[in-house]
Amino acid sequence: MKTMLSGIKPTGCPHLGNYLGMLKPCIDMASLPDYRSFLFIADYHALNFIQDRALMKNLVLEVALTFLSLGLNPSKTFFYRQSDIPEIFELALILQCVCPKGFMNRAHAYKAVVDKNKAEGHEEDDGVNMGLYNYPILMAADILMFNADLVPIGQDQTQHLEYTRDLAIKFNHIFGKTFKIPEPYFKENVATLPGLDGRKMSKSYNNTIPLFESDAKLKKIINSIKTDCKGASEPKETEGNLIYMVYRELASPEETAAFAKAFADGISYGEAKAKLFEKFTEYFAGPRAKYEELKAHPDTVFDILAEGAKKVRPIAQEGLAIIRDKIGIAR
Ligand code: TRP
Repeated sequence: MKTMLSGIKPTGCPHLGNYLGMLKPCIDMASLPDYRSFLFIADYHALNFIQDRALMKNLVLEVALTFLSLGLNPSKTFFYRQSDIPEIFELALILQCVCPKGFMNRAHAYKAVVDKNKAEGHEEDDGVNMGLYNYPILMAADILMFNADLVPIGQDQTQHLEYTRDLAIKFNHIFGKTFKIPEPYFKENVATLPGLDGRKMSKSYNNTIPLFESDAKLKKIINSIKTDCKGASEPKETEGNLIYMVYRELASPEETAAFAKAFADGISYGEAKAKLFEKFTEYFAGPRAKYEELKAHPDTVFDILAEGAKKVRPIAQEGLAIIRDKIGIAR
């Protein structure tokens, strides 16, 4: 049986881009009978960005609510908070000791900040804390702790997975075969969804379509999708059109073909947006009801996470005992 594992960092309310790129593929894969699956909330990864007590609490809850509303089954999948498993942090420390510093200097996320600082004439490491610098090492610990075979991730996480593999190989080389070398799993044909303004859909651009908004707000958001200024009955391009791209992800192939034809025949953008709104609310009706129900009982959600931690900790403890033994630090 193969082990799949993935995590999400609670730095914003999950949106449609997260759903299509990560949440849905992970939940689908986790429900397959031939996989042992781990899905977790990477709250200590988020601490680099979210340094506000109330916001952190709220975002962790939102992510948990989202996973559960979308159908994650906590009796089939190990579903937990990273912070509940202290063994992960001990492993991160161990991995730090076999990780060359030069490795981390080359990390994309870190380098992007350095380059920006340089371009703006600031000190190289302005705004970089050690948590951000060591981020890929903690992520390697998340994955190696449970000997995952497969890690579903978005394209933006490719380098992190390479680091994980490199660190596993390095450790195995020094201390003897200990870790499995995990493989990334990318969902095929997952187009990066543009956001409302045409840039990549991302919480940092504030241009997302949230999953569980009220009808009124959702309608406003969909109506704010940027379009060109073609007249109401002019034929329109489906290529690169966000209204069409989102619709296609949520509708059946027949409905999508009909929508494409309407574009070619000349549907107004207003009407196309109304159709998208209808499709969106229909598609997420079940999860939304579940979300509302669970949101009214946050304790149930935290209980589910605690239950998950209770099941996961013994696995981590067992793994860590083996690792400690390999490095000669045994109790
Ligand atoms: N770095 C990932 C992200 O930003 C989140 C993450 C943390 C993760 N640990 C992980 C993903 C382990 C997969 C496996 O999206």
